[in-house]
Amino acid sequence: ERERTLAMIKPDGLSGNYTERIKEVILESGFDIVKETAVQLDAERASLFYAEHSGRSFFDSLVKYMTSGPVLVMILERPDAILHWRVLIGPTDARKAKTSHPNSHKSYASFHFSIRAMCGVDSEKNCVHGSDSPQSAAREISFFFGDVRSDTVEHDE
Ligand code: CMP
Repeated sequence: ERERTLAMIKPDGLSGNYTERIKEVILESGFDIVKETAVQLDAERASLFYAEHSGRSFFDSLVKYMTSGPVLVMILERPDAILHWRVLIGPTDARKAKTSHPNSHKSYASFHFSIRAMCGVDSEKNCVHGSDSPQSAAREISFFFGDVRSDTVEHDE
């Protein structure tokens, strides 16, 4: 069944000029980009978006990172979009994404190309975000795009 998820290219992904390559991977992986918009988050909006992490030691640093430049948010759609996008971006810690190796049985299950392996740096600067459940996908999509449940893919003419 077709499903939607919220994908985000974080400030380091945008400033590092990874956007075009990431979009190619998205389209090659069978997603439609239903909507996209670039936004500059302020501390209040970034804190609200990551409210579930507000008690964590890394929270202030995360807000600083996420407000350091614009982000590109996209609604992606395909069958099982939430899980597929999470697999495609790889582990939260981009160092793990980079060191997964086909001959290392511990990480064998997660060995594949991942976007974070391509453009992430560490567990904070991991260059992309993806919703982790249907509930967060719904919340995160409406956070950036409002009520778009019946909107369909915009094709460029
Ligand atoms: P994301 O998948 O967007 O969800 C929460 C974000 O918090 C995560 O990516 C990272 O950018 C950041 N984050 C998660 N864990 C850590 C950590 N241990 N140290 C610093 N930042 C983190």
